Amino acid sequence: MTTHGQTATGPHSRLRQLAWIVPATVVAAVSVVLAARWLVTLPAVADFLHAYPGTSELPERAPRGFPLWLSILHFLNGGLLLFIVLSGWSMRRTRRHGARPREFWTRDNERLVRTRNPPVRITLTSWWHLTVNTLWVLTGAVYFVLLFTTGQWTRIVPTRWDVVPNAISAAVQYLSLNWPHEDGWVNYNALQLLTYFATVFLAAPLAVLTGVRLAPGLAVRWRRLDHVFPPAVARTVHFSVMIWFVAFTVVHVALVLLTSPLRNLNHMYALRDDDDWLGLVVFAASLVVIATAWVLLRPPRLAAVAELTGTVTRR
Ligand code: HEM
Ligand code: HEM
Repeated sequence: MTTHGQTATGPHSRLRQLAWIVPATVVAAVSVVLAARWLVTLPAVADFLHAYPGTSELPERAPRGFPLWLSILHFLNGGLLLFIVLSGWSMRRTRRHGARPREFWTRDNERLVRTRNPPVRITLTSWWHLTVNTLWVLTGAVYFVLLFTTGQWTRIVPTRWDVVPNAISAAVQYLSLNWPHEDGWVNYNALQLLTYFATVFLAAPLAVLTGVRLAPGLAVRWRRLDHVFPPAVARTVHFSVMIWFVAFTVVHVALVLLTSPLRNLNHMYALRDDDDWLGLVVFAASLVVIATAWVLLRPPRLAAVAELTGTVTRR
């Protein structure tokens, strides 16, 4: 307790913490930029940046530009992830605050899926998280198949070792605020390539693996796994993966909008390497679609959708 009767985690104490965190972050960021600026003036570093300009060469067969399927799947992924993060966050809040969920869903064992053991009752939020994730995994499966059957994978999977020094070079260039040359239509820079690779091939599978481990119906049947792969470990990894996805998205969208925004948006949303406004218009329309889905799927209607595959009960 403080002298004002506030607990150590009360709003005043949080404000006081913020009062330190904000200036400390600004000072740290300015120091990093100054250090990077000084670094690039050193002859050895200048030689390194010259030898590794930030982009690693692609294999000969790498396709140029963006196909329609990539654009559609990129949009679906973004929309689904919004609902995944919202429902995940809501489950976490309920669990940490010890709140009692009020709505539950039990799968109807006579319809879509039939199992020998009776289905377990789960919270409505958990049902929503698992439903959206099922769609997300299906989208991901289509993305993987198309990525590898069209050669599009060569743009986000490292095939040469010089991707590492090139990524370091790109990072130094970003930090010195002298940003690397961009030509995302043909080839992402090495740092972009590695972060896309990490998101698609490490973070996403890790989310699925740890998520399936925690799925209520399976968790109660897989008690034997508790020693080898404890739920607490799965939950920590699962949450860390969410942090990665959110941090990645914030930086990703910021960079898209800070480096030739019209051209970048045209790449992904209008499938052309141009500077006109079409990509921005399609991007804005895609945000309207996602926002509309968000409004339409608010709780009362959500329960109605859940009723399609099971029984919703209220406490
Ligand atoms: C196939 C994919 C996924 C499945 C099957 C799944 C399943 C689950 C389950 C069962 C829980 C409840 C865990 C518990 O017992 O506390 C959970 C929690 C959560 N999930 Fe997922 N999930 C998946 C993907 C994702 C993704 C991609 C994200 C975010 C980008 C995400 C974010 C979260 C968050 C934030 C929580 C709350 C964690 C906590 O309470 O600390 N999930 N997920
Ligand atoms: C809604 C906000 C978003 C916008 C405006 C956006 C925009 C873009 C653009 C313009 C590109 C092409 C980059 C270039 O030409 O240099 C791209 C690629 C990519 N984005 Fe996003 N993005 C968004 C959300 C997301 C989210 C949420 C994820 C995943 C967590 C994601 C993952 C990716 C990946 C993996 C690529 C590379 C795709 C490939 O070439 O196979 N994006 N994005």
